Amino acid sequence: MFPIVATERLAPDVQRIEIAAPRIARKQRPGQFVIVRTHRSGERIPLTIAGADADRGTITLVVQGVGKTTKLLNSLAAGDAIRDVAGPLGQPTEVRRFGTVMAIAGGVGTAIILPVASALRAAGNRVIGVLGARSREQLILETEMRAACDELILMTDDGSAGRRGLVVDPLLEALASGRRLDRVLAVGPVRMMQAVAEATRKPAIPTIVSLNTLMVDGTGMCGGCRVMTANGPRFACVDGPEFDAHIVDFEILALRNQAYRERESEELREYLANPTRWLEEVRAEMLADASTGVDANAATRFAAPLTASMTASNAAPNAAGQSTECRLEAAHPELRS
Ligand code: FAD
Ligand code: FES
Ligand code: MG
Repeated sequence: MFPIVATERLAPDVQRIEIAAPRIARKQRPGQFVIVRTHRSGERIPLTIAGADADRGTITLVVQGVGKTTKLLNSLAAGDAIRDVAGPLGQPTEVRRFGTVMAIAGGVGTAIILPVASALRAAGNRVIGVLGARSREQLILETEMRAACDELILMTDDGSAGRRGLVVDPLLEALASGRRLDRVLAVGPVRMMQAVAEATRKPAIPTIVSLNTLMVDGTGMCGGCRVMTANGPRFACVDGPEFDAHIVDFEILALRNQAYRERESEELREYLANPTRWLEEVRAEMLADASTGVDANAATRFAAPLTASMTASNAAPNAAGQSTECRLEAAHPELRS
């Protein structure tokens, strides 16, 4: 188990979660992610390592509650624990001196681009950050991005912060004015990354996107994260998650990401009907494992006092019939091939 050390609400549906995971904190590099499973019968989801503190032995995740698993994760608090955190996974970002880099992020993509922007600036690049959100309320990590970038441009759909417009607009303006850009990074919704890729294709500016494919195991075994590129199929979990934007087939990516929409909506409805039930199930499992000593994870030993502080009020009876297999994997065996 991986104890939660602290949580902070960044926006109505977005939570920063600091987790005791000393080995991952020591090894991780910008651009890498972890696969998280809240409890035994929960599904595995990929989340970027938005920050790490090797001395404290913690990593930070920034989670947008879009469906059942992310909403459940965001309902956990300091003193709770997460069943599995596997990583660091994926290829780290290529960090060297490119010149001027524009780092464009939409929504929770900001959490993914923040460590990369910091590392690129530390490597001597001039970093222009562009952050987009629906409104000021949804903008996250503005202060941190300001510290990580030489310039920061804010864009909102309603003009309540920065300028009104799309995150791709400052890129189009920079290209039209002849401003030199040596590299562009984009993280966000598929169509946003596609628009950035189209804008930089003709001027041939190297452009990197971090792809939010479906993932199951995160180790190249299941094929769930397959991405079609001009160089053939690739797996986002081991070959990515960053790819050359100009070789990605975004149409196939968008289609694959919708493959389980019905099932995801069903799970969300089931969760929203009684969120407390799911939270109690997770907490009961944590408590049972902590009290029986089932869990031999190093992170538990590292933060034993936190685990011990879980209150007796969390001690609801454990749910019967928990499966050790990931739900998504069990429900969709075709993802394995
Ligand atoms: P669901 O209702 O299951 O799905 C909602 C949406 O998320 C759908 O569009 C679906 O296509 C997508 N999704 C569902 N399951 C998965 C899955 N197993 N893998 C990937 N996408 C899925 N989100 C964050 O909030 N913060 C992050 O730092 C972050 N980093 C990511 C890093 C990588 C490498 C990838 C691939 C995705 C990342 N995501 C991140 C997206 C996050 O994994 C999904 O939002 C999450 O899995 C949704 O699960 P859910 O059950 O809450 O929602
Ligand atoms: Fe990439 Fe399974 S998640 S192959
Ligand atoms: Mg889900």
